[in-house]
Amino acid sequence: MALSLQSTYKLVSGYEIPVVGFGVYQTPPDVTEKVTIKAIELGYRHVDSAKYYENEAESANAIRNSGLERSKIFYTSKVPANCMGYEKSKKAIEESIADANLGYIDLMLIHAPYGGKEGRLGTWRALVEAQKAGHIRSLGVSNFGIPQLEELEEYIKNGGGGQITVGQYEIHPWCPRDDIAEWLQKRNIIVEAYSPLVQATRMNEPVLQNLAKKHGKSAAQILVRWSVQKGYVPLPKSVTESRILENSQVFDFTLSDGDMASLKLDSYAPVCWDPVRDCKI
Ligand SMILES: NC(=O)c1ccc[n+]([C@@H]2O[C@H](COP(=O)([O-])OP(=O)(O)OC[C@H]3O[C@@H](n4cnc5c(N)ncnc54)[C@H](OP(=O)(O)O)[C@@H]3O)[C@@H](O)[C@H]2O)c1
Repeated sequence: MALSLQSTYKLVSGYEIPVVGFGVYQTPPDVTEKVTIKAIELGYRHVDSAKYYENEAESANAIRNSGLERSKIFYTSKVPANCMGYEKSKKAIEESIADANLGYIDLMLIHAPYGGKEGRLGTWRALVEAQKAGHIRSLGVSNFGIPQLEELEEYIKNGGGGQITVGQYEIHPWCPRDDIAEWLQKRNIIVEAYSPLVQATRMNEPVLQNLAKKHGKSAAQILVRWSVQKGYVPLPKSVTESRILENSQVFDFTLSDGDMASLKLDSYAPVCWDPVRDCKI
């Protein structure tokens, strides 16, 4: 069946995740509630925040004040990179739960794989405890390279608890991360694509402009649609109402196999941070 903004995928935890999320990184706290409510009015059902973004309370206020039932909106937060290890993570998780005050957090990710093996696995242990206590529904990771994914997979297999349900990465045609996406998809782990608009730095690239012209769409819509057709969950961010709407209107056209092939660029050019490459241990 054709997807829509409110379609969902099933996570290996059994919960449903909407196929597009609304990102709020770099969204100033004083406008976060307003723009997130706008996104929900326009049909988004998934909000991607993090402790690091300093707008968790405002994102959650939008969910609470949206007029929709809590269960209709999927809310993600993340344990920050400077809070790795069991004790620090436990405190950070408690703060996120309190700041959001939503009853539960749908998905909590480890923001980045820093802190060494002990730090990463200690953070995971704190997440599993919070999940068992009913504060978090599903767990996942962000920016983990394959070595750190395999380390966590091994820990879980040996009785560490929890499941990796989502992997969130900077992914777009200029940074496709095919190896990691394949590792995750083989295990039915949902791949989320952050900076799916390449932070608006590539909108004038001829390959995007040509596809935009062909489909009567914008470059941004081509990028979001690419992500959807790869089976990923893109998380476009905007504080601009017209763009929030534009980024969601990607379900009324299809990129052909040839279009998709033209976006296979053999490029590795992340625009955000890159813990996947920078984290050596
Ligand atoms: N896990 C991680 O480490 C991590 C890292 C980065 C991001 N993320 C998540 O992913 C989300 C998205 O990534 P991102 O914020 O880095 O970048 P992005 O979504 O690729 O790009 C956002 C930029 O594009 C502009 N924009 C939005 N829609 C547009 C459109 N239709 N036409 C032209 N420009 C448009 C925005 O401007 P305006 O806002 O001014 O409209 C903003 O400058 C974040 O908000 C966050 O939730 C996660």
